[in-house]
Amino acid sequence: MTGGSKKPHFVGASDIKKNRPKVLKTSDHSSHSHNVGVSKASGSKKQRNGSVYTGLGVAAIGIVSWFVYQGYLETRVNSPLRENKVAFPTSHDFPERYWGSFRPGVYFGMKSREAHSLLAGLMWFMPDMAAAGSLNLRHLCDQGDNLEQYGWREHDGRNFGVQVIIDKFIQLETSFMTKPGGNHGGDWTARIHVEPRMKELVGQQVTLFFYLTLDDNGKGLLQPIRILDNMDTSGMDANESAKFLGLSAVHGHTENLGDFRVSFHHANQQSIVHTAFLSTTVASPHLVKDALESGLRLMEDKRTQQRHISLAGALFSKEDKLKQPNFVVHQVTGKLPLQLEVVYESNSFVERGAMLRGEVYDTLLQKYRKDFRVKFESKFHLNEKGFSDEEQNFAIAAMSNLVGGIGYFYGSSKVQSVHNKEPVPYWNVPLYTAVPSRSFFPRGFLWDEGFHNLIISQWDREISLDIMAHWFDLMNVEGWIPREQILGSEARARVPEEFVVQRNDQGNPPTFFLVLDAMFKNRTVRDISTLELEQLNRMWPRLVSWYNWFNTSLHGPEPGTYYWRGRASASARELNPKSLSSGLDDYPRASHPTPYERHLDLRCWIALAAKVMASIADITGREGHKYHEAFLFLSDNELLNAQHWSETAKRYADFGLHSSSATLQRPKSNPGQPKPDKIRVVLEEPTARFVDDTFGYVSLFPLIMELLHPDSPQLGQLLHDLRNPNLLWTKYGLRSLSKTSPLYNKRNTEHDPPYWRGPIWININYLVARALHHYSVVEGPHQTRATLLYNELRENLISNIVREYQKTGYIWEQYSDANGAGQGCRPFTGWSTLVLLLMSETYV
Ligand SMILES: *[C@@H]1O[C@H](CO)[C@@H](O)[C@H](O)[C@H]1NC(C)=O
Ligand SMILES: *[C@@H]1O[C@H](CO)[C@@H](O)[C@H](O)[C@H]1NC(C)=O
Ligand SMILES: *[C@@H]1O[C@H](CO)[C@@H](O)[C@H](O)[C@H]1NC(C)=O
Repeated sequence: MTGGSKKPHFVGASDIKKNRPKVLKTSDHSSHSHNVGVSKASGSKKQRNGSVYTGLGVAAIGIVSWFVYQGYLETRVNSPLRENKVAFPTSHDFPERYWGSFRPGVYFGMKSREAHSLLAGLMWFMPDMAAAGSLNLRHLCDQGDNLEQYGWREHDGRNFGVQVIIDKFIQLETSFMTKPGGNHGGDWTARIHVEPRMKELVGQQVTLFFYLTLDDNGKGLLQPIRILDNMDTSGMDANESAKFLGLSAVHGHTENLGDFRVSFHHANQQSIVHTAFLSTTVASPHLVKDALESGLRLMEDKRTQQRHISLAGALFSKEDKLKQPNFVVHQVTGKLPLQLEVVYESNSFVERGAMLRGEVYDTLLQKYRKDFRVKFESKFHLNEKGFSDEEQNFAIAAMSNLVGGIGYFYGSSKVQSVHNKEPVPYWNVPLYTAVPSRSFFPRGFLWDEGFHNLIISQWDREISLDIMAHWFDLMNVEGWIPREQILGSEARARVPEEFVVQRNDQGNPPTFFLVLDAMFKNRTVRDISTLELEQLNRMWPRLVSWYNWFNTSLHGPEPGTYYWRGRASASARELNPKSLSSGLDDYPRASHPTPYERHLDLRCWIALAAKVMASIADITGREGHKYHEAFLFLSDNELLNAQHWSETAKRYADFGLHSSSATLQRPKSNPGQPKPDKIRVVLEEPTARFVDDTFGYVSLFPLIMELLHPDSPQLGQLLHDLRNPNLLWTKYGLRSLSKTSPLYNKRNTEHDPPYWRGPIWININYLVARALHHYSVVEGPHQTRATLLYNELRENLISNIVREYQKTGYIWEQYSDANGAGQGCRPFTGWSTLVLLLMSETYV
């Protein structure tokens, strides 16, 4: 037993707070968890050099070089890895994916793949339903809006998308199509069609705002063209002319888009009551809703006695002499049903033929929808497998909202290492990525993205390779990738300041290896395309650095042992200090973090990484021997059992300084004083041992990564325990933590409800189902049991997720282990969308 002899080092909470931002002065104390392996080793050598010599001059040189060296360490965290970029430069080389719905955080918006794109977006409200003092203006996907349902029903990630939004009395269908051509990324058309949900509401009014603006400090021109500019209204009555106060078009120019024209078209002139416009400036795109609201006026038409909530036209401050708008809005208020088409045309596109609207639009959209469904069936075979139309539509909508939720972001993260006193900015980067949730997490998350791309790569390999390329290009010189990407002011505005900073000792499970495995397993250089081979070759040096980062920075004291950094060892309030970087947040680990703990899940992730590195080395004709060796070493069942199998509890487990008995108690306070927060009280002395009182997702990782021999007795035990309803098994899938674990469903602090301590998560359930499927096809004594479990687990998961979708309109972040109810945030068409691969039984 290693580590047992080591004295754990305790530091008070206040000490840690003081120590952390400072440069480490000596190498042998303070929180190890915040120290990166490589720099720690070299840092301590420097220190020793400085103290060994006694001569004054030598000491002076030592001090100077110490400062130089510190300066060097401070810059490492935000220095990019010096290797070729993997992503091809953003350009018009991807005409089909140049424009898209790349703003997942708004209900509907369009954007191009550029650092400072032209942004388009939609807002709406119902004038007759507006509450006193609030219009309930819709813009950002917001759970507080309580929409019954919204999401892409069809979206192919390239040519088109169709979304349905159900908002109380109305249903909006927002669709778009792109059309390549010209030298600047081509054209697109967006259509917003609003229907009443009940017959009685025909004739009620709805107001749509469609805006254009320039992303973060984008330079360009937007020139509003009014309808009235081109018509003679002298013969019209007031009711008639109110219809023509809006925009017919916006003419614009940016460096990347050249000259363009955006025109507005209403399907049925009869239903229009009023149009208007706003032309003004905004400091940043996250302020467009405020700017629009402050541009609204209640206007009363004296002649008709009609009152309209209306945009005020051109609004510029007195100081603003140029009156150059960067925010232009067209408003249309009309009677239901109402339809608006917005046509973006690039001036460099000369022979486009008929404008993409009306019947031309209908015809092309029909064709895309038909092709989409044919392709979907050819990829996932849900019809062939006998799923009902309703179930197929559910699966199509799930995948479409994942693919339709792909965004394009640009900006820089804030990062910090132990060597930085303050957070420092990362370099500016573009990121093309899917997002976990359009409402709650509309930005990139590293470990989620691997799961997303298990699905996306089945649909469109090119998109997945492009997404991974962007993520790998975020790697710094240490081989580290910041795990949450909050890029640009729109994304930044939605994240509380304290969560913005990313620390470089915190990794995240390297789930892209799952994707690479799925995409390239059992392929040779002969059966992949030249383009894909080129991309793998470009990726390789970055994969090497990434692997090394995990292998060195997260290493434990003994070969084969690893542990997640960043657990707060001095935290007094946490029942069990979180390991956020593991992705499993509050999943219980050893109660007392130490530098000798061993995390089973991490070891298994690294085993997967080694296996995939070896296979990619093979495909690209490189020497992959050491990765193959590493895989054999980490998957050696005897070593695995020695380091992680508890013979007492008969389960796989973490190892560390652990107490089975801790609780949260409120310290006594004097009468009249505010109640202090509860703190942790440890009731049983911790010892160095397996964390085998706990059974849950982490215990399953040797199964999940398919590291166990088919005839392993431990596999038999695990499969036996899997079906036990007192442990993880429910009718709705596997719960994250067994009911018998001490921290099952326990709060981590009084303010922190349980997260990975009971609820059912779909990403891990998918991986377990995949592994069961694997053990059901390889020969061995546990084959039959694996088959039975596989079938039952798959059925439970699918039927519950579909049922909850039909009941609530949404796919959810997690599901209750008590009754299967969707919970957490919604829509969560991130990894919960893996239900699609369960339906199609795709486990490559
Ligand atoms: C204008 O519209 C209002 C309300 O729809 C109607 O009462 C009025 O008669 C109309 N005026 C004319 C001149 O058509
Ligand atoms: C893939 O390759 C592995 C090892 O190279 C082999 O055992 C397995 O049967 C192959 N699977 C398929 C589906 O070809
Ligand atoms: C991982 O790190 C260990 C040292 O901790 C080293 O011996 C091994 O070669 C590394 N593995 C690879 C594949 O680089």
